[in-house]
Amino acid sequence: MSQQVPGEPERPWLELELEDDFDEELEQEVDDARIPPALRELLARRQKSTIARSLYFSELLRLQSELVKLQDWVQHRKLKLVVLFEGRDSAGKGGVIKRITQRVNPRTCRVVALPAPSDRERTQWYFQRYVPHLPAAGEMVLFDRSWYNRAGVERVMGFAGEQQVEEFFRDVPAFERMLVRSGIILVKYWFSITDEEQQLRFLMRIHDPIKQWKLSPMDLQSRVRWEQYTKAKEEMFERTNIPEAPWHIVEGNDKKRARLNCIAHLLSKVPYEEVPHEPVTLPERVFNPDYERRTL
Ligand code: ADP
Ligand code: AMP
Ligand code: MLT
Repeated sequence: MSQQVPGEPERPWLELELEDDFDEELEQEVDDARIPPALRELLARRQKSTIARSLYFSELLRLQSELVKLQDWVQHRKLKLVVLFEGRDSAGKGGVIKRITQRVNPRTCRVVALPAPSDRERTQWYFQRYVPHLPAAGEMVLFDRSWYNRAGVERVMGFAGEQQVEEFFRDVPAFERMLVRSGIILVKYWFSITDEEQQLRFLMRIHDPIKQWKLSPMDLQSRVRWEQYTKAKEEMFERTNIPEAPWHIVEGNDKKRARLNCIAHLLSKVPYEEVPHEPVTLPERVFNPDYERRTL
């Protein structure tokens, strides 16, 4: 039974939720204040987000409550959803994935971020190590980088030879068509940022001890090989943008706008409805005098 305690707010949890969000907002403000002086001038010249923080947070919260409905629908209808997040280093894939998973059940909605392949995996069929992570009925799987590594980082860094890349391009449309025919909903995002923005984000990471871990040797090379990545990306779009699974480009320079756009777009890809739920009431707990004596 839910009982209203006089003088208490009607929905105390809502206040707690909002408190969390204000915490995040405060965190961002504190984070901004930590910007090293050397970068302030550069940052000042950067175009500001076109979304005010309060609007961003209220919109994010609204979209996240829709994601909860989507999750319910996916479970209810036993759907299988796969979302790929691709893009250059620091484009914001991690940030949007974090916001998507923030308020949903981690058993329904999983993130897959595979490390570099092991020696054993390198000898397997290329798609093999991704396949075990595909969803069962009622699951959504978010791939933080995916099989497209072969067309991007592996190609540009020379981990895969041109013949392997060619084979990948030949196979990937067939592979994705199989997934889609088997009933998987496949959504592919490319997070796009400009050269200047990536430069700035990397500099911020270099200057910030709590962000330095994000900067891998691979990232530094991706600055050097910016143009090779551009070419690789263009060919990837040309050869893998199939009607069954087209690419969706998320403009990533404005992080807040990118997150909201991407989540709103994802919600639009699944025609979900609200699943009716029995109202939940909290049962009375059993009173055990012995236990009570022990814990008091
Ligand atoms: P992230 O940007 O995802 O935090 P990195 O920048 O370190 O991680 O690496 C980028 C991608 O390159 C990862 O998906 C990783 O698995 C892949 N990668 C790194 N080294 C190799 C390698 N030797 N062979 C194949 N892929 C690799
Ligand atoms: P280029 O010789 O640089 O004009 O590139 C020719 C082709 O090779 C293009 O299709 C590029 O996408 C691709 N490419 C560019 N750089 C690399 C690289 N480092 N490794 C593998 N392929 C690359
Ligand atoms: C991103 O922001 O796109 C990812 O976190 C990748 C990275 O850290 O470079």
